[in-house]
Amino acid sequence: MPPTQQKALFLQAKQGAFALGTRPVPSPKAGELLVRVEGVGLSPLDWKIQKTGFYYTGTYPAVLGTDVSGTVEEVGEGVTGFAKGDKVFSSVEYAHDNAAYQQYALVTAAVAAKVPSNLSLDEAATLAAGIATAALALYDTPNTTAPGGAGFTPPWDGGRGKYAGKPILVLGGASSVGQYVIQFAKLSGFSPIITTASSSSERLVKSFGATHVLDRNLSPADLNSAVSALVASPFELVYDAISLPDTQEIAYEHLAPGGTLILTLPSTLQIDETKKQLVFQVYWSPHAPSHRKVAEQLFAALPELLLSGDIKPNPVKVLPNGLEGIPEGLKELERGVSGVKLVARPKETA
Ligand SMILES: NC(=O)c1ccc[n+]([C@@H]2O[C@H](COP(=O)([O-])OP(=O)(O)OC[C@H]3O[C@@H](n4cnc5c(N)ncnc54)[C@H](OP(=O)(O)O)[C@@H]3O)[C@@H](O)[C@H]2O)c1
Repeated sequence: MPPTQQKALFLQAKQGAFALGTRPVPSPKAGELLVRVEGVGLSPLDWKIQKTGFYYTGTYPAVLGTDVSGTVEEVGEGVTGFAKGDKVFSSVEYAHDNAAYQQYALVTAAVAAKVPSNLSLDEAATLAAGIATAALALYDTPNTTAPGGAGFTPPWDGGRGKYAGKPILVLGGASSVGQYVIQFAKLSGFSPIITTASSSSERLVKSFGATHVLDRNLSPADLNSAVSALVASPFELVYDAISLPDTQEIAYEHLAPGGTLILTLPSTLQIDETKKQLVFQVYWSPHAPSHRKVAEQLFAALPELLLSGDIKPNPVKVLPNGLEGIPEGLKELERGVSGVKLVARPKETA
């Protein structure tokens, strides 16, 4: 039996400080799993919420965190395919009982997956939100009124290798999201896969499938010239995993008329509507109603894609001190990490 109380990391007030506290261990409702959280992947969204107060609309004190891995403790009514003791991972919602920065969380079974035997629980904590941000943007259907995607055929539904010979530009290939974009682009057959990264990240992004790596520290003019030198015509697909104003400008410079540009942050671009391009900001959450169908297909496909090594996790840096290590980890994430996902282990909370 799980305990009745657990430790959780609370954001005490809007733009306030984090503090450790206790809260009840929830019971799973229909369709949910109660998971003992063993790995938590830190998300940039969390330091942004703490710093600016944006995005989070629930009550305070809040529990944040989007990525969990752990062990199923209880199975809610109607759930099939999961049993007590299974190792699982998922991307959770910002609701008190569901969020990741605590020792027990409720997980929606339809968008959870079993951790394959070749991955550790630390590695599994890097997967869900980053993969969803990459794959939902590439494979969900275009939608002008709700979160959607670029409409490419998913590799789990006949699209494996389908886009052979089509080049893709991925800005920020060493970021958590960028690493997953490169791997899905490779599965879909896109080639060449051209990305930007620091020279210290070149080997990493090539290990995921990047064919050409351009130094992200070049001036925008030099980066533009380097990209143009590699391809004869503009790109039908560009994924800007960084989406700062200067990377957006580079991304848009190389986008073909009729092409698709995927951004991770709001657009700062002046769009030329006559070019009939699809430019949109991805929404990471598999819980968005418009994403849900493709998200369920994605999570059903993931154990096999991970076991085969077609999709590999982000490299992990484990933080010390369990939940209490998360505030310092979020500061580190804000300062900038290179090529790694920061992971906390809630059970190591003193
Ligand atoms: N809209 C959504 O739903 C959504 C979902 C997820 C993330 N996001 C946003 O997407 C962004 C990326 O998130 P993340 O978790 O993937 O970030 P991350 O892993 O923390 O990003 C760190 C990496 O970014 C790379 N980088 C930084 N500036 C760069 C630049 N100018 N050009 C190329 N690479 C650069 C660095 O590469 P090097 O190591 O090569 O230096 C570093 O490895 C964040 O702003 C996040 O908030 C949005």
